[in-house]
Amino acid sequence: MAVGKSAIEESLESIRDAVRKQLGVGRPEAVDVPPDTVTRFSKDCEPSFTPERRAEFVDRAAELDPWLQGPFYLGGDLIIGGTWRCDHRWIGLGAEVSKSLAGKRVLDVGSNAGYDPFMFALRGAQEIVACEPFGYHHQAVFLESLYHSGVQFENIGWECLTNEKYGTFDLIHCNGVFYHEPNPMGLLMRLRSMLAPDGELLFGSMMLGEPEQSEYVRFIPGSYFGDETWWFVPGRLAMRWMLEVTGFRVAYSFGEWPGPAGEFPVVNGYFRATGVDPAPHLDPVRGSQLLA
Ligand SMILES: C[S@@+](CC[C@H](N)C(=O)[O-])C[C@H]1O[C@@H](n2cnc3c(N)ncnc32)[C@H](O)[C@@H]1O
Repeated sequence: MAVGKSAIEESLESIRDAVRKQLGVGRPEAVDVPPDTVTRFSKDCEPSFTPERRAEFVDRAAELDPWLQGPFYLGGDLIIGGTWRCDHRWIGLGAEVSKSLAGKRVLDVGSNAGYDPFMFALRGAQEIVACEPFGYHHQAVFLESLYHSGVQFENIGWECLTNEKYGTFDLIHCNGVFYHEPNPMGLLMRLRSMLAPDGELLFGSMMLGEPEQSEYVRFIPGSYFGDETWWFVPGRLAMRWMLEVTGFRVAYSFGEWPGPAGEFPVVNGYFRATGVDPAPHLDPVRGSQLLA
């Protein structure tokens, strides 16, 4: 079903309101970096623009504000996004992803504007499915119309991922979704069910910064740093335990960096894991009800 323009505008307007609460602006400026330092997701980008063509790109990008992921190169001298500096996150993450993903099926959960799926495409993944339920999806679709990477962008949440429709994946990447999720164990169980037998999970979440709170999960009844979509923030050990009971063997953690300076200290960090059996007392009947 085609999505009408007003539906896209409406979905982005509500995101602009949320971003305004956190950052004070609904349309954050692109980061100021030299275009020749920005990762090229495609050889198809035009190296220079006529003034009219440039204005067309600027208008289209503005329609799709707010851009948080990035920086993304559009062509000529144009860059969009980068509030989140995904290129900096990939300095650590890139070392954990095989240089060649040839023959691999990759799933990205909570893909936002598509930075991570585009990176997996650069590494030659055979097939990439990216799921994002909110208006950011339209940013990814716009970028894909320039990059032609072949990523399958789906405007869905993790709840809609099923083996029947999408199969299983050799690599699953999910960063920054867990603490926004009212049903965090359901998310982990679904990720487990989407993992191929020899598959790997790269899982990142915001976590409690204080080491002495490592075993705890903190519930957020209101908001964190102006963001009302934070629910459960785990300590580092609690996060590892939750992964383990839902059927992951954690090899190690990596790539820790400070989170937003909100009401209590948080850090973002990644876990690398493979699949094992979930805990036997994680009732499979109740589990499958959660997954239904
Ligand atoms: C903090 S951002 C992280 C984006 C990206 N993974 C990254 O690391 O830059 C969380 C993303 O998860 C998306 N999201 C929220 N609920 C989701 C759900 N139920 N399923 C999948 N993604 C979801 C949000 O819209 C947002 O794009």
